[in-house]
Amino acid sequence: MSRTSKRKQQVLKILHRNQEQYISGQELSDKLGVSRTAIWKYIQSLREQGYVIDSSSKLGYRLVKAPDILSPEEIKKDLKTDILGCKVIYHEEVESTNLLAKSAARQGADEGTIILAKEQVGGKGRLGREYFCPAGGIWFSIILHPDLKPTVASRINFVAVVALAKTIDKLTDLTPEIKWPNDVLINGKKVTGILTEMSAEIEQINYLVLGIGINLNIGLDKFPSELQKKATSIQEELGQKVPKLQFFLTLLENLEEKYTKLQIEGFAEIVEEWEDYNITIGNEVTVSNGEGTLSGQAVDINDEGCLLVELSDGTIKKVVAGEATLNTEYN
Ligand code: BTN
Repeated sequence: MSRTSKRKQQVLKILHRNQEQYISGQELSDKLGVSRTAIWKYIQSLREQGYVIDSSSKLGYRLVKAPDILSPEEIKKDLKTDILGCKVIYHEEVESTNLLAKSAARQGADEGTIILAKEQVGGKGRLGREYFCPAGGIWFSIILHPDLKPTVASRINFVAVVALAKTIDKLTDLTPEIKWPNDVLINGKKVTGILTEMSAEIEQINYLVLGIGINLNIGLDKFPSELQKKATSIQEELGQKVPKLQFFLTLLENLEEKYTKLQIEGFAEIVEEWEDYNITIGNEVTVSNGEGTLSGQAVDINDEGCLLVELSDGTIKKVVAGEATLNTEYN
């Protein structure tokens, strides 16, 4: 971070701490050891970021309203987690936060480091697909070093999807549903996606990057037309915007709680919560992946998070990865 950005952050911190009262330009300039003109420039720059700052020639400056943005300063201010968000890196526009997170992980970034972007121009989806990530959504990746064998790493996806469903459930009147393996749907359309990538040896995970995308405050008209049939946004389904920062902080708390639970109590506990939102098990499904397509009754998920599908001849097939289509509707 440059010296100017650091000072600007210090000004913001002081304004946040003194939100009830004015603080004079002179006091700020004394505290930071810079000129009053420099302080005025930092204030202007904060205003450009969306901060509403009142100024009076007699009294000085007062923070009236902070913008609803996922900047590290706004996140850190109210963050209640111990691990997730220990470091937050924010970008306006990136190709993909997963790419950046993998590179940071290779360089030894700590567990819980988060890379966030306002917008992704090369967002990566599952099965090598592109992912639509415009401004208004939440796009981020977390670096994790879970105490898990690589064979069961996909349990992290279950942790994440349950945390997402719980967050939507808690903060909105909507009814989130989980489609195997890890999509949250609302009214039959996808609103969140998870892409987990990992570096591992046979016996141990070196690092895992959990990438999460949330269609939060995006108008449906912004979606490419072919996507409008399958995907939606929380704003669209709710009929109003959702406070982004509150959503993100609640999600991190839920994620940390489930992540800890997974490592202490085990997968069965997470699956139990997953089942509360499940719309896959018990239904007729068609599952496709690189190896082909099969149809049958989804009967269970196993310890590794694989979907067990009963074919018409009674045999049970285990599906490790793929795209499930419920043989009912919307997909
Ligand atoms: C899917 O459902 O296909 C998974 C989508 C995952 C999207 C997220 S957005 C943040 C992170 N960065 C990426 O490039 N992808 C994931």
